[in-house]
Amino acid sequence: MNDICLRIHGLNVSYDGHTALKNIYLDIPHRQITAIIGPSGCGKTTLLRSINRLIDLTDGAKIRGEIWLDGHNVMSDREDVTSIRKRIGLISQKPSPLPMSIYDNVAYGPRIHGMRDRKELDKTVRSCLETAGLWTEVKDRLQSPATRLSVGQQQRLCLARSLAVRPEVLLCDEPTSALDPVSSQNIENRLIELKKDYTIVIVTHNIHQAMRLADYVVHLYLGELVEHGPASEVFQRPKQDRTRAYINGTVLTKPRTDVEINLKGKVCPLNFVFAKAALENLEIGQVLKVIVDYPTAITEVPRAMEYDGHKVLGVKQLNETDWEVIIQKRE
Ligand SMILES: Nc1ncnc2c1ncn2[C@@H]1O[C@H](COP(=O)(O)OP(=O)(O)OP(=O)(O)O)[C@@H](O)[C@H]1O
Ligand SMILES: [Mg+2]
Repeated sequence: MNDICLRIHGLNVSYDGHTALKNIYLDIPHRQITAIIGPSGCGKTTLLRSINRLIDLTDGAKIRGEIWLDGHNVMSDREDVTSIRKRIGLISQKPSPLPMSIYDNVAYGPRIHGMRDRKELDKTVRSCLETAGLWTEVKDRLQSPATRLSVGQQQRLCLARSLAVRPEVLLCDEPTSALDPVSSQNIENRLIELKKDYTIVIVTHNIHQAMRLADYVVHLYLGELVEHGPASEVFQRPKQDRTRAYINGTVLTKPRTDVEINLKGKVCPLNFVFAKAALENLEIGQVLKVIVDYPTAITEVPRAMEYDGHKVLGVKQLNETDWEVIIQKRE
């Protein structure tokens, strides 16, 4: 990989003597989406908070190692933390708008960094809200309190707020975990558009989301880096058994299948049209197993089913070409 944005070199983090990250070596590619996956407590948030030095604010946290961004070691005491956080924005799992208007939330960062001209601020606020996909919903109430927005809108507002200081890297900690499928898709689409200009690191518990978004995947387990590599390799041919188990483990308990259909040979979108039709004949709660072999079906069938409000219980590779997608009818 020759186009590296962030180089993490020997990173160790502990909280009150308990190790949270152990000897992490990792290169994060420039202008791509890197997804960090792994079970709860494995250190995903700790890794993001280390990258933009927010970890400095946590009592008892000890951090050792180097994180290089463009020739600067962000861990060095000589680096200015405010400018690091300007270059590396973090959007946390729970949207946290500031207790002020929608406009002021977005203008807050640019004002701190010296932007005073009203016209320039207006332009920045508008373009960031547009990029975050929120402008049309809020353009007539920019002065109303941000806390009145829905959670999905608040999440996009926080994205706009991060963009307003023109970061180079966007760290997103489970940005859609509190959102409905439509709002999640909205954010996912934004992230895909944004990778033209930004390096994006996203933490997600949703394997299907990681499959949809990621160019590069990092699997953490109990504070250790188990595997990392291009998404196509990690998802389709994981090198480590633990990674395979985690990906396949999205089928948590082996569900009873009520109906099975074989859609091998069917291309997108025919395969999800057939899957939808099969679900229509099921009762709520019943489970459909779909066998697919068309490469994009692995991500598109689960996405279409989640979009319709059904629950995807698992996606599993069966052999070199075939995958099964297990869907529970919800609506
Ligand atoms: N402020 C803290 N003080 C003490 N221990 C902490 C603190 N923050 C995190 N930890 C511990 O560090 C480990 C890694 O936590 P982290 O929040 O990074 O995990 P995570 O992978 O983001 O989990 P989740 O998926 O549940 O968000 C956990 O064992 C957690 O209990
Ligand atoms: Mg976390």
